[in-house]
Amino acid sequence: MSFLALEGLSASYGGRGDVLNDVTLSIGKGEVVGLIGPSGSGKSSLLRALVGLLPPRAGRVEIGGQAVDYSSRASLRAARDRFAIVFQQYNLFQNMTALRNVCIAPVLVKKRPAAEVEAEAKALLAKVGLARKYDAYPDELSGGQQQRVAIARALALKPDILLLDEVTSALDPELVTEVLDTIRTLRADGMTMLVVSHEMAFIREVATTVVFMDAGRVVEAGPPARILDAPESPRLRDFTAKILRH
Ligand SMILES: Nc1ncnc2c1ncn2[C@@H]1O[C@H](COP(=O)(O)OP(=O)(O)O)[C@@H](O)[C@H]1O
Ligand SMILES: [Mg+2]
Repeated sequence: MSFLALEGLSASYGGRGDVLNDVTLSIGKGEVVGLIGPSGSGKSSLLRALVGLLPPRAGRVEIGGQAVDYSSRASLRAARDRFAIVFQQYNLFQNMTALRNVCIAPVLVKKRPAAEVEAEAKALLAKVGLARKYDAYPDELSGGQQQRVAIARALALKPDILLLDEVTSALDPELVTEVLDTIRTLRADGMTMLVVSHEMAFIREVATTVVFMDAGRVVEAGPPARILDAPESPRLRDFTAKILRH
C-alpha cells in the first residue's frame, strides 16, 4: 500500500529546463527510501518540491490517498504540515536553547499550548540522545548534537513523512555515527522517511528501497542489494563504481 505517491512530477526553477522530469515513485507507511544520485541530479529539488518550496509544474502527489494541492496558500500550508525537512546545515536559532529551538514553531506557528509542547520537546530531545542538553545553546553543542536538535525540531511538527537532505554531510566523521543512530531509532519507531545520503553503507542498511536519480529523473529503484550490487543502467553502474571506490 502506497502512503506517499508521486506521479509524473516535473518542476523547474523559473523558465529553465526541468530539474525534475516525470518523477514517479511510491513509498509505503514506515518505509525508508534512500535517494542517491550524482550532485545536481535533483535530489534536493525533489524534497523541495514535496514541501512546496519548488512548486511542481506537472504531476501529482498523494499522501494517504489524499492529493496534495500546491496551488493555493491554504492547501500549501496543509501540504507542509505533512512533511518536515532537515537540511545539511542545521540552522538553529543561536540565541535559543536546544529546548526552545524545538518548541518555537509548534508554539508560535501552530499556536499549541506551551506546556504541552515543552513536555513533547523534552521527550523528543531524549529520543535523539540529548536529555541532558535541554538548556544548552547551539554554540555549546557539537555539530552532531546540533543536527540531532534539528531532527527533534522537525519531529516536533509531527510530520507524516520526514525528509532528510544529506544531514551528515557537514559533520566530522566521528560525529556521523550518532546522527545515523538517531535515524535508525526513527526507523524502528516506524517513521516514514526519504533520506538523501552519500553514506552508502548506511543507505544499504536502513533503506527499504533505494532510488537512483540522474538528470532529474528516476533511473532505477529497488531493494538496496539489487540497486547497489547489481545496477542495470550504465549511469547507475558508473555512479556506484565511483562511490564505492571511496
Ligand atoms: N535555486 C535554484 N535555482 C536554479 N537552479 C537550481 C536551484 N537549485 C538547484 N538548481 C539546479 O537544479 C539542479 C538540481 O539540483 P539539486 O536538486 O540541488 O541536486 P542534488 O541535490 O541532487 O545535488 C541542478 O542543475 C542545480 O544547478
Ligand atoms: Mg542536494
